[in-house]
Amino acid sequence: MSKIALFGANGTIGSRVLDEALRRGHEVTAVVRDPAKLTRSAPGLTVVTGDVLDPAFVAEVARGQDVVVSAVGGGDGPGHVATIRPAAESLVAGLRTLGDAAPRLLLVGGAGSLRTPDGSQVWDAEGLPEFLLQIMHAHGDALDFCRTVEDVRWTNLSPAGTIEPGERTGTYRTSLDDLVVTEDGGSRITAEDYAVALVDEIDRPQHIGERFTVGY
Ligand SMILES: NC(=O)c1ccc[n+]([C@@H]2O[C@H](COP(=O)([O-])OP(=O)(O)OC[C@H]3O[C@@H](n4cnc5c(N)ncnc54)[C@H](OP(=O)(O)O)[C@@H]3O)[C@@H](O)[C@H]2O)c1
Repeated sequence: MSKIALFGANGTIGSRVLDEALRRGHEVTAVVRDPAKLTRSAPGLTVVTGDVLDPAFVAEVARGQDVVVSAVGGGDGPGHVATIRPAAESLVAGLRTLGDAAPRLLLVGGAGSLRTPDGSQVWDAEGLPEFLLQIMHAHGDALDFCRTVEDVRWTNLSPAGTIEPGERTGTYRTSLDDLVVTEDGGSRITAEDYAVALVDEIDRPQHIGERFTVGY
């Protein structure tokens, strides 16, 4: 059993991570900005209110945890884009203050910077809408920042090219910086199986200090 603080616990991806962690018997402190959006109760679940952009709050909620997971961001507005790299910086700043007692940090990343089979990157594809490009590059910036961090045990997990709510199959494939693609050239994962992969990484750490990705 691990003690997990989860930012973005009421989001599309964060809520699947919450379900997956609770079903495995982990103790989860779900961090939300508006507690009215997360009213469920479950064994092992504590809900607290706070902002990921406040490093002092990050330190407070992270103290005594084994892992801090961040599934923040989301949406397609400028405010969401503006949160992605500052959130990574705030989480690292907060964890740093805990020194050797700091928990691991697991960040939900983006797919844009992944390499495609033709050697380009996902964000090089023609016709991507501007809002999506901004989110992809914000995640790229957050990953670049993580790669400068040596004193916090971070992991960044990029989804496949498409991530949507769907079935929990419990199966997936992983890669480091290469987009995971199927034989037909598609790249997808359900949010449920993404959560399985993320909680597997909590249970059996294999990617400390690096980015990995997951797809079918
Ligand atoms: N869904 C996709 O297709 C997709 C694809 C690739 C990458 N991603 C990335 O995955 C992450 C999560 O995406 P999602 O689709 O699950 O987004 P979502 O459903 O919009 O959820 C985002 C969560 O972030 C929280 N949040 C935002 N700013 C915060 C702050 N300052 N402090 C604390 N919490 C904050 C929101 O809380 P509130 O409810 O309080 O607003 C919400 O719970 C994002 O970084 C997104 O870019 C998503």
